[in-house]
Amino acid sequence: MVRVKMMAAALTGLLAVSALAGCGGDKDSGSGSSGDGKLVLGFSQVGAESGWRTANTKSIQDAAAAAGYELKFSDAQGKQEKQIEAIRSFITQKVDVIAFSPVVTSGWDAVLKEAKDADIPVILTDRAVDSQDKSLYKTFLGSDFVKEGKEAGDWLVKQYEGKTDPVNVVELQGTVGAAPAIDRQKGFADAIAANPNIKIVKSQSGNFTRAEGKTVMEGILQSTPKIDVLYAHNDDMGLGAIEAIEAAGKKPGVDIKIITVDAVKDGMTALSEGKINYIVECSPLLGPQLMDLAKKVKAGEAVDPRILTVETTFTQEQAKAALPDRKY
Ligand code: AHR
Repeated sequence: MVRVKMMAAALTGLLAVSALAGCGGDKDSGSGSSGDGKLVLGFSQVGAESGWRTANTKSIQDAAAAAGYELKFSDAQGKQEKQIEAIRSFITQKVDVIAFSPVVTSGWDAVLKEAKDADIPVILTDRAVDSQDKSLYKTFLGSDFVKEGKEAGDWLVKQYEGKTDPVNVVELQGTVGAAPAIDRQKGFADAIAANPNIKIVKSQSGNFTRAEGKTVMEGILQSTPKIDVLYAHNDDMGLGAIEAIEAAGKKPGVDIKIITVDAVKDGMTALSEGKINYIVECSPLLGPQLMDLAKKVKAGEAVDPRILTVETTFTQEQAKAALPDRKY
């Protein structure tokens, strides 16, 4: 009975990922690579919550096609249980390599152990997990989110250098428990710590989406009489908040200074128009590096356990210059 239930669960998982697959067909059962010798990569994506995520998905799909891999792509719609289900299905299908961008940091040990026991190498992209056993994955490719938060805070401190008047900051956090939300909060808090006049007066999650950024900011505008600065953990929440600020009769970028992270086209446009004051870049273009790493780990080659993305920051003037060539 138990055996029948386990088989049924495995089959359900397999069907779920096949239904969600963006590219690639079925793989020969029991073989290491696809029937035509292509490397088979199972990728579990967080969802489609932001412009950054859309660009990241495109980068991965384009790079897989260019490398000639078979990509089994699964969208978790922001749910950890869907990611675990997808990873289990990739294991059942015996893909060559599993990669994923974890929705939240904790709760991955069991499924990562299953992948390790099945001898399938795992690559973390974009976001980290908090597993103590580093042998559960081969490498983590992505940004330094603490540094991003610190850069946002450093810029703010510079704007108020030599001033002692209170500066009230509202923080729109990303998804609760997600690495970029935890780290961007920490980096920013560390950067402003030595300036007691700069205070975070409200800090709430907008779940990395434009819609929630707007509704959360609407509430905060009503309950908080003096807001000098908005720090949003991504462009999308910042853009949603801008709509709320304008609807409240205030000028974004002037009445309330705005700092965001990502530097996607919409964010850069708002920055060049003066509605955002500063953006810390977080690059979503991880596809080519991921494909290279997948080839290496499949071949059993050693790879660096941590691969950092190269990023920059943008002022309003720099955004104007960079916009025409912005790819995403
Ligand atoms: O993990 C990267 C973050 O996730 C991006 O900054 C944000 O826009 C996305 O949703």
